[in-house]
Amino acid sequence: MENHSFSLKNKNIVITGASSGIGRQCAVECAFGGARVILIARNRQNLIAAMDDMPGDRHIALPVDLTEFDGLAASIREGIAGIEKVHGLVHAAGLQMTCALNQMNIDRYRSLFDINVFAGLEIARIVTHRKFIPQDGSSLVFISSTMAAAGRPGLTGYSATKGALLSAARSMAMELASKKVRVNCVSPGLIMTQMMQDVFSTLTPEQVSQRRQGYALGLGRPRDIADACVFLLSDAARWITGANIPVDGGYTAQ
Ligand SMILES: NC(=O)c1ccc[n+]([C@@H]2O[C@H](COP(=O)([O-])OP(=O)(O)OC[C@H]3O[C@@H](n4cnc5c(N)ncnc54)[C@H](OP(=O)(O)O)[C@@H]3O)[C@@H](O)[C@H]2O)c1
Repeated sequence: MENHSFSLKNKNIVITGASSGIGRQCAVECAFGGARVILIARNRQNLIAAMDDMPGDRHIALPVDLTEFDGLAASIREGIAGIEKVHGLVHAAGLQMTCALNQMNIDRYRSLFDINVFAGLEIARIVTHRKFIPQDGSSLVFISSTMAAAGRPGLTGYSATKGALLSAARSMAMELASKKVRVNCVSPGLIMTQMMQDVFSTLTPEQVSQRRQGYALGLGRPRDIADACVFLLSDAARWITGANIPVDGGYTAQ
């Protein structure tokens, strides 16, 4: 498997949101795929705990608030100074908010867009600086959502951020193709992570049961999303760019 096109051996992969849920599982699976992983989130302890589950000892934990845009580029560059090239990025850091349109305001929209969209675009800009792009190119993966394609009451702001990622990824893919940088999205359906536990704790039992409906294959696991990300990061996906892979147990097939 080591030299197989699905292998991540000798690749340096940056993962945001690596302290929890989908991002954490991406970090673990990338490490099992042979990669050296740079784990980013705010909670240092949780990043260290994630590293305990990962094979290999060259991973880097980088506790950073990705929405503190002043100085973000400097912190990331400093954190990855020992790494020559960045072969891949997964932007999994994110925030979900269920809020009726008439309760939304500019601050709420901003908090969603800051982490879900702007932080992802900023980190993509940083890791695609010419000094970090390997000769064979690199692969960027943005975690969008089924809620970019399907609507749900209370998710106007969140859906807007996830749709923005799909659109941005397509243009980025066209802009960076000449540097052999591929840019894709993965759109998960419902995965039981800390984020969804927090969301469910605010819903009525009836709303919870509504949320669980529509998954022909049942609910997903973080591993289902991480496996799709590992594929997109690997050389096996060398001819895929500007694409979105729904990983949602059939939710958007209805
Ligand atoms: N779970 C689902 O059902 C589902 C479905 C579709 C899409 N998604 C998307 O998948 C992604 C991951 O979701 P999840 O369910 O794994 O959520 P999660 O368990 O709550 O993880 C969110 C991650 O984002 C990090 N984060 C949040 N704000 C940050 C900030 N300002 N700076 C740095 N890191 C920050 C958190 O780390 P710290 O708190 O340590 O900073 C955490 O690692 C999100 O983009 C979400 O929208 C999830």
